Amino acid sequence: MTQTNRRWIYAQAPAGAIETGNFALNDAPVPQPAEGEALVRTTMLSIDPASRAWMAGATYRSKLEPGDVMAGWGLGEVVESRTPALKPGDLVSGEFGWQQFAAVPARHLTKHDPRHRPEHILSVYGITGLTAYFGLLDVGRPRPGETVLVSAAAGAVGNIAGQIARIAGCRVIGTAGGAEKCEWLKRDLGFDAALDYKAGGIYRQLKAAAPEGIDVYFDNTGGDVLSAALSRMNIGGRIACCGNVSQYDTATPAGGPAGVPGLLVTKRIRMEGFIVMDFYGRRRQAEETLARWVEEGRLNPAIDIVDGFDNMPAALTGMFAGKNRGKLLVRV
Ligand SMILES: NC(=O)c1ccc[n+]([C@@H]2O[C@H](COP(=O)([O-])OP(=O)(O)OC[C@H]3O[C@@H](n4cnc5c(N)ncnc54)[C@H](OP(=O)(O)O)[C@@H]3O)[C@@H](O)[C@H]2O)c1
Repeated sequence: MTQTNRRWIYAQAPAGAIETGNFALNDAPVPQPAEGEALVRTTMLSIDPASRAWMAGATYRSKLEPGDVMAGWGLGEVVESRTPALKPGDLVSGEFGWQQFAAVPARHLTKHDPRHRPEHILSVYGITGLTAYFGLLDVGRPRPGETVLVSAAAGAVGNIAGQIARIAGCRVIGTAGGAEKCEWLKRDLGFDAALDYKAGGIYRQLKAAAPEGIDVYFDNTGGDVLSAALSRMNIGGRIACCGNVSQYDTATPAGGPAGVPGLLVTKRIRMEGFIVMDFYGRRRQAEETLARWVEEGRLNPAIDIVDGFDNMPAALTGMFAGKNRGKLLVRV
């Protein structure tokens, strides 16, 4: 193969907030798949806030180091296979990194049904949808009539978690940055209320929107929204800790919320973190349910597509500026 492999290298650790200059483009030969591997041509890449956390230290994966190909999940087409499990033309997802070609062991690839739209495979039927599904239903355990709060509700996981809460018969409140996003959550995605955390006074806004308190909080952000939610939880409330996006893009993360463990004890709150992979064995069942909701028009997964591989770093910095509505993807 005479083509080159265009790659984005994580070139320099951010000093504070991430910048496009932290990445550098580089051309390399297209990798040769080893025995048991497939060569995949990347068609779409997922932009994820966790990328920033991977630069700061070890998480559920090892720390990224300058010089590494930038890590990331994507969708692609098998162009050469040295495994009986896959053949050229197969549609697969996996951790390809920010590059146009990747040689990946077959056991690390998931083969997909081409009848689903590519942007849905990387959103509602992928990590995003499964995170929202298991995080809300298994960890949050909402009951009909309860009040559910979701932070970063206009983002990928948040918009789906909020819509699942609505399907579960709950009253749903979202937080998002800016009046326009809040209006969109109510108008297009069926949220009962939406609070602009950037306008300030989030505790006051939350108290006004949920005078009877919160039963389930799906926490994507940590920070101020978590502090406000903790103080407004009802007895027996559940907090599903999904992520901490308010603290990723900084060299100086804020301290944790005040009142823990006192509030947890007196209100018998269960606060539980989870990683979507914990539920991977049950993903088919979740995918079927999510697909049924999408087909029935009850779930409208929001997608935000940026065109062009060269725009990967700008897409990631834009996410921290809150530019995306729904799942942010880059068409390679
Ligand atoms: N536990 C798991 O297995 C798992 C799996 C996937 C994702 N996650 C977590 O889920 C959360 C959402 O991820 P996602 O992929 O769906 O991304 P996303 O919500 O589509 O994008 C991130 C959003 O966070 C908001 N944000 C950025 N800076 C913020 C700040 N300082 N304070 C509050 N909000 C801020 C922005 O929206 P605004 O305009 O509203 O600010 C932005 O659109 C993240 O915490 C991520 O780490 C966890």
